[in-house]
Formats: sequence, C-alpha cells, structure tokens
Amino acid sequence: MRDCQDRWRFHAGVSGLFFAALMLAMATDAQDVARPRPVDPAAWGGDHVGQPFPPYVTGDECLFCHRDIGPTWGDNAHQRTIRPATPDELSLAALREFPRGKDLADQTQYLLGSERMTRFLKRSEEYGKLDLLSAMFRPQQNADVETDEASRENAPGEIHLPADDDEPRWEPHTFADRCAGCHTTAVDSRGKAFSSLSLDCFTCHGDVPLEHTKDTSLALLSAKHREPRQVISLCGQCHLRGGRSKSTGLPYPNTFVAGDNLFRDFQVDFSDEGLNTLPAADRHIFENTRDVALFNQTEMTCLTCHDVHTSSSERHQALEEVTICGSCHIPGTESRELREGISESAKFHVHSRVCGY
Ligand code: HEC
Ligand code: HEC
Ligand code: HEC
Ligand code: HEC
Ligand code: HEC
Ligand code: HEC
Repeated sequence: MRDCQDRWRFHAGVSGLFFAALMLAMATDAQDVARPRPVDPAAWGGDHVGQPFPPYVTGDECLFCHRDIGPTWGDNAHQRTIRPATPDELSLAALREFPRGKDLADQTQYLLGSERMTRFLKRSEEYGKLDLLSAMFRPQQNADVETDEASRENAPGEIHLPADDDEPRWEPHTFADRCAGCHTTAVDSRGKAFSSLSLDCFTCHGDVPLEHTKDTSLALLSAKHREPRQVISLCGQCHLRGGRSKSTGLPYPNTFVAGDNLFRDFQVDFSDEGLNTLPAADRHIFENTRDVALFNQTEMTCLTCHDVHTSSSERHQALEEVTICGSCHIPGTESRELREGISESAKFHVHSRVCGY
C-alpha cells in the first residue's frame, strides 16, 4: 500500500526517465486500473521562471473601463487580503489592550486576513517589503455568531504569541521569505520585493494587452479564453499551499505569470497520502488540480463551481454527483450531507501550516 501511495508523490519537472518509470509502474499496477494514465504536467506551455515580471496594467486602469467589476471588487477577499489598518478594527483594539500593545497598534499600517486569523504589518525600510508582527489576533470561532455577518464583526477574539516568543516583536524577514508571493502582487524572486500590495487583477488575468477590447480572446479568463490547465495553474499558484519552488526553495512560485504552466517549477505533493492529510477546503483544490494536471480530465475546473468576482460557489449545487463531491459531502446521501468539520454555519474549521492559522 505504502509503495502504491508513494508513487503519487509526484513532483513536477521530473526527468523524462523517472516519468517513464512512473508511467510504467502505474500501468502495471492493478490497484490503479480505475485511474487514467498520468500525463507529464510540466509538458505544455511556457513559464517566466527567473525572469523579471513584464510591466502590467494596474487594477485602477482596468477598473476605469470595467466599471461593472468595481462594485464587488472592493469587498473581494483577494483585493482585501492585505488592507490598510483602520482604528475601528477589532483586532487592533485587542492588540492595544495587550501588554506593550499600544505602541505596536499605533505602528501597524496594514492587516492581513480576517475570519480565522488577522496579522499585523508595517512597511519595512526596504522598498516592497513588510515587517510582520509575531503576535496574531485569533477571532473566536463561534458557530452561532458565524452565521451573522454583523455579530461576527463584534465577536471577541484573542491576541496570541508563538510559543517561543515572550513578547511581540516586528519580524523583518518572515513576510518576504514565507508569505509575500501569495498575499501581494508580482514578487521578485531574488529580492523578494512585491510590486503592489494585496492581489491585483494581474495575478489572475496576467498580462492583458489593450487590443483585448476588440478581441476578447486576448484576455485570459474571458468567456473565450479559459483553458483548463491554465486555470488550475493560475489559481494553484496560491491555492496549492504546501508546494515549493524548485529553483528558489520558497513556498511560493518563482515569477509566475497567469497563463504559464505552474508545474514547470512548482513542486506539489499529489499523493493520496498527502491529500488525505489536508482539510477539506484545501483537499478539493488539490484533487481538482490533480485531475486536470495529471489525469488530463479537463471538464471540471475551479470555475465550474466558483464565481470569483461575486465570491459565490452557488452554481456547484446544480452539478451531477462525481468523485470530488466526496471531499466535502458524504457520498450517495440524498440531501448532500456534509462531512465532519464542514457545516453550513461554520463552513470550514480550516488550519494551514503555511499560513500559520
Ligand atoms: C502558497 C501560497 C501562500 C503562502 C506562501 C501563504 N499564504 Fe496565507 N493564504 C493563502 C491562501 C490561498 C489563503 C486563503 C485560503 C482559504 O480561504 O481557504 C490564505 C489565507 C491566509 C490568511 C487568512 C485566514 C482567514 O481566513 O482569516 C492569513 C492570516 C494568512 N493566509 C497568513 C499568511 C502568512 C502570515 C503567511 C506567511 C507566513 C502566509 N499566509 C503564506 C496562500 C498562501
Ligand atoms: C483571484 C482571481 C481574479 C482576480 C484577482 C481578478 N479576476 Fe477578473 N475574473 C476572474 C475569473 C475566474 C473570471 C471568469 C469569470 C468567472 O467565472 O468568475 C474573471 C472575469 C473577469 C471579467 C469578465 C467579465 C465577467 O464578470 O465575467 C472581467 C472584465 C474581469 N474579470 C476584470 C477584472 C479586473 C478589472 C480585475 C482587477 C480589478 C480582476 N478581474 C481581478 C478572476 C480574477
Ligand atoms: C480602455 C478600456 C479598457 C481597459 C483599460 C481594460 N479593458 Fe478589458 N475590456 C474592454 C472592452 C471594451 C472589452 C470588450 C467588451 C466587454 O466584454 O466588456 C473588454 C473585455 C475584457 C474581458 C473579457 C470579457 C468577456 O467578454 O468575457 C476581460 C476578462 C477583461 N476585459 C479584463 C481586463 C483587465 C484585467 C484589464 C486590466 C489589466 C482590462 N480589461 C483593461 C475595455 C478595457
Ligand atoms: C495571488 C494569489 C491568489 C490567486 C492567483 C488566487 N487566489 Fe483565491 N485567495 C487567495 C487568498 C490570499 C485568499 C484569502 C484572502 C483572505 O481571506 O485574506 C483567497 C480566497 C479565495 C476564496 C475564498 C474567498 C471567496 O472569495 O470566496 C476562493 C473561493 C478563492 N480564493 C478561489 C480562487 C480561484 C478559483 C482562483 C483562480 C481563478 C484564485 N482564487 C486565485 C489567493 C489567491
Ligand atoms: C465541484 C465544485 C468545486 C470545484 C471543482 C472547486 N471548488 Fe472550491 N469550493 C467549492 C465549494 C462548494 C466550497 C465551499 C463553499 C464556499 O466556501 O463557498 C469551496 C470552497 C473553496 C475555498 C474555501 C473558501 C473558504 O471558505 O475559505 C477555496 C479557497 C476554494 N474552494 C478554491 C478552489 C480552487 C482554487 C479550485 C480549483 C483548483 C476549486 N476551489 C475547485 C466547490 C468547488
Ligand atoms: C469544498 C467543499 C464542497 C465540495 C467539493 C462540494 N460541495 Fe456541495 N456544498 C458544500 C457546502 C459547504 C454546502 C452548503 C451550502 C453552501 O455554502 O454552498 C454545499 C451544498 C450543496 C448542495 C445543497 C444541499 C442543500 O441541502 O441545500 C448540493 C445539492 C450540493 N452541495 C451538491 C454538490 C455536488 C453535486 C458536488 C460535486 C459536484 C459538491 N456539492 C461538491 C461544500 C462542497
């Protein structure tokens, strides 16, 4: 059994020889008969690994024309993942009450995260970098208040310190080394400086040429341009938490531009064993990505179920039952009963080693 599972510990960018051996092993293993033959996920498309980012059009410029996107964008989790700290935030009030917290709260310029964890940040002396406060705010996970947006905002929470820390301090390197690539835009892999805070249109739409106004197929993610392998690559650049760049060793990709093939440089554990250790929210992401990237099953992607701009997954409810539904629902149940740890009120009690919550 172990032997079989280890074979799924697939690292992209494997040598041709290893890949051939993998294919052979899969084809001759009776246990894997039900699974299609894996393809080499690194085989298609291009990448920008180690190159500078191309200049890109910023969100303000896009929104000047795309006013329809504007109204929901301000509240979108991607746009808000890092946001200016406003004094009325509950997390800041809690920090202020903490021993020595008042000064730290005054120094805080940005907040990261919300429902499960909030982190405090300030600009570093170096351009394009942020200092991360070692102390964090953990909102109380209360199923009853979670259903009610307004009362959740007022729900109590606590400041926590990492075990090896006796008082909160500003860490100058943690954010650049471990977080920047998934919470800011266009991080230069060498200097690890970001080009803009939070997540701009560029992270998902890539380099959109102005000519797309006449030919929308030139805009990635337009109705005419949604290639499944590009979709799972571009969402996966941030949502495959636990992956690692082969060239930099960092936990985020090296110069990924939406449209690229992520798996030329980003190594991800797609083994059954690896998937089974993930919380459901992350598990279905790895499962869907594996289906597309390794098994060439391209009929379902993140966009089959998620509408990113309206933050809705409602359309998933109208789908036929398939294997991936079992990541969250107990298979075969008429009412689509949810697995343990997932409920409608407290949807995901998610934890992430990468993000530290
Ligand atoms: C590989 C990409 C990646 C890296 C690296 C990463 N994050 Fe995240 N982070 C994410 C994604 C994706 C989510 C959203 C997950 C979800 O909603 O299920 C997230 C969510 C969060 C949240 C929000 C939790 C909430 O819902 O309130 C916090 C806080 C956070 N990350 C902090 C960090 C910190 C601190 C680091 C560095 C130590 C870090 N992350 C590194 C991808 C990453
Ligand atoms: C986190 C990924 C992501 C980010 C960031 C993002 N988009 Fe999108 N966008 C999508 C996806 C996915 C679609 C395809 C429609 C769908 O199914 O949600 C889309 C569709 C669109 C469309 C087509 C119209 C529509 O609603 O279907 C426009 C225009 C657009 N985005 C503009 C923008 C602009 C402008 C920004 C920045 C302010 C932006 N997007 C940021 C993922 C993103
Ligand atoms: C000069 C105005 C202008 C700017 C700037 C602009 N767009 Fe567009 N965009 C258009 C027009 C016009 C269309 C075609 C009509 C439509 O579908 O809205 C379009 C179409 C699109 C579509 C395809 C919508 C569909 O039909 O599926 C996407 C996606 C998109 N733009 C994203 C962006 C992003 C992201 C940016 C910034 C990088 C951007 N646009 C900048 C004018 C603009
Ligand atoms: C550049 C990194 C990045 C990319 C690219 C990205 N995400 Fe995210 N995503 C995040 C982070 C970070 C959060 C959590 C933000 C927070 O809560 O602070 C998030 C949150 C989410 C959420 C939960 C919040 C919500 O709006 O419902 C969904 C669903 C999601 N992303 C889907 C997608 C899909 C689908 C794509 C590809 C079209 C995508 N993301 C691309 C980083 C990214
Ligand atoms: C079969 C449908 C389906 C597919 C395919 C799918 N998702 Fe989901 N996803 C869901 C549902 C349903 C939820 C839970 C409801 C919600 O949070 O909106 C969810 C939750 C999430 C969350 C957690 C939101 C939170 O509360 O923190 C993220 C992030 C996410 N999906 C990203 C992705 C990405 C990235 C992909 C593509 C690799 C993907 N999903 C593919 C249906 C799907
Ligand atoms: C990532 C987790 C996730 C995945 C994967 C997922 N669901 Fe769901 N599903 C949920 C959650 C959470 C709800 C509760 C309502 C909501 O928030 O969307 C739900 C609700 C539903 C409902 C409505 C049930 C009711 O009582 O109203 C149906 C039907 C449904 N899902 C079908 C499916 C099907 C079919 C699939 C596979 C194609 C699937 N789901 C995959 C998380 C998931």
